[in-house]
Amino acid sequence: MAYSLGKILIDKDRINQMVTRMARQISADYKDEELVVVGILKGSFIFMADLVRQLNMPIIIDFMSVSSYFENTRSTGIVKIIKDLDINIHDKHVLIVEDIVDSGLTLSHLKELLMTKDPRSLKLCVAFDKPDRRKTQIEADYVGMVIPDEFIVGYGLDYAGKYRNLSDIWIMESDGGNK
Ligand code: IMP
Ligand code: MG
Repeated sequence: MAYSLGKILIDKDRINQMVTRMARQISADYKDEELVVVGILKGSFIFMADLVRQLNMPIIIDFMSVSSYFENTRSTGIVKIIKDLDINIHDKHVLIVEDIVDSGLTLSHLKELLMTKDPRSLKLCVAFDKPDRRKTQIEADYVGMVIPDEFIVGYGLDYAGKYRNLSDIWIMESDGGNK
């Protein structure tokens, strides 16, 4: 099935407002506590960069890279760790920053894994949430926007490696009808 860029779902001004609102909430919740912010590559890189620049507490940045295997636009639920954390998160406040939660399999897997490292606290922050497609029970602590069951690109999110650099969020459309 071929996919191409459809229309804009969320423009950059709304994304800006969303990030500012989330950063205020996170800053209020952690106050001056040191926070380890773990970005999940590659999808979170733009969201993470925007978010951390609006946080007021002392921040330590780390990244993990995982790959979820896809068949077309559907995640298979198989998650592989490509790059693990560099730092020790034992007894640290940790915030995982992810681009989108869809089936929920990636985040529930990651959360389980990071919990074994004994952080002082562990919370999840996602830019976008597609609750209709959940296959496992997981709720992010901070959610930017709830979106319909569409495949989106831009603002860090890709389709087959492309479109991450778009400033707005776009919907991918299948050329042949059925998704
Ligand atoms: P999940 O494990 O199904 O919750 O989703 C895992 C990953 O699939 C996310 O981190 C994204 O990288 C990717 N993903 C899910 N939905 C979309 C989408 O609409 N656009 C781009 N990537 C997506
Ligand atoms: Mg991702």
